[in-house]
Amino acid sequence: RKILVLNGPNLNLLGTRQPELYGHATLADINQRLEEKATVAGWELACLQSNHEGELIDAIHAARLDGTRAIIINPAAYTHTSVALLDALHTFEGTVYEVHISNVHKRESFRHHSYVSLRADGVIAGLGVQGYQAALDAILAAGQGKP
Ligand code: DQA
Repeated sequence: RKILVLNGPNLNLLGTRQPELYGHATLADINQRLEEKATVAGWELACLQSNHEGELIDAIHAARLDGTRAIIINPAAYTHTSVALLDALHTFEGTVYEVHISNVHKRESFRHHSYVSLRADGVIAGLGVQGYQAALDAILAAGQGKP
C-alpha cells in the first residue's frame, strides 16, 4: 500500500522558480501535505525529486518490486523528451498519474506533447500544485487502499 511521488528536473526549486507559473509552495510543503493525507488513509507515501533522468528510472524500477501500487509523476522537462522514462513506466503495472503544475497546453508548442502520457492513466495540468493532491485523491478514492 505504497504510493511513489516523483518529481523531475528543476522542481527542487519550486517556491522560487518562476512563481507566476509554478506558485510559491516549496516541494517540501507539497510532499508534506501529500504524506499527511496518505498516512491518514493508511498508505505509505515516498517522495523523490531528481535532476537526473536515470535516477528517476531507477526509482521506477524499484517501485516494480517493493509493493508500490501507484506513481504520481511530474516529469518536468523530461515529459517532452524522454522515451527512456516512458519505457520505464511501461514496466510498472500499477496506476500512473502525470501531473503538471502549469497548463502545458497554454504554453510553447514543444510542451504540448508528452511521452509520459502514452502510459499515464490520468493527466492533470494547470491546477497548480493542487494537481498533486487531486492525483492522490483519485488514487485513494479508487479504493486501492484496501488490503
Ligand atoms: C511542468 C511543465 C514542463 O513543461 C516544464 O518543463 C516543467 C514543469 C509543470 O509542472 O508545469 O519543468 O512539468
